[in-house]
Amino acid sequence: MYSEKVMDHFTNPRNVGELPDADAIGETGSFKCGDTMKLYLKVKDDRIEDIKFQTFGCGAAIASSSMLTEMVKGRTIDEAARVTNQDVADQLGGLPPLKLHCSNLAADALQNAIGDYKSRQHSR
Ligand code: FES
Repeated sequence: MYSEKVMDHFTNPRNVGELPDADAIGETGSFKCGDTMKLYLKVKDDRIEDIKFQTFGCGAAIASSSMLTEMVKGRTIDEAARVTNQDVADQLGGLPPLKLHCSNLAADALQNAIGDYKSRQHSR
C-alpha cells in the first residue's frame, strides 16, 4: 500500500532533530489526527543551508517530513515556498488517498517556517 520510497523515508528518515541556532521555526498540527510537526531552518543569503524536523506522527507524516527536507535543502526561500503537499506526495511515489493529509503537515510546517523567517527579516 505504501511505495518503496515511503517505506525508505519512514524507516530511515533524513534530517531528524532540531537546530538550536535556527533562523526560522515552523510548527503545525493536523486537526484530523492530532499529529504535529516542527521544522527548523538555517538560512544563509536567502538559501536553506540546513533543515531538521521533529514529527510526532504516523509513518506517512514522518516519510513526508523527511522527503520535504531533502527537497528544499539548498533551495532558496522563494523556491521552497512553491513546494506543495502534492509535490511531496509525488516525490514519495504517491500516498494512499486517506493519507494525503499527512503530506499537508510537512508542507504547512514549511510555509509556517518561511513565514517566520520573513517576519524575522522585517523586524531586524
Ligand atoms: Fe496524522 Fe498522518 S495520520 S499525519
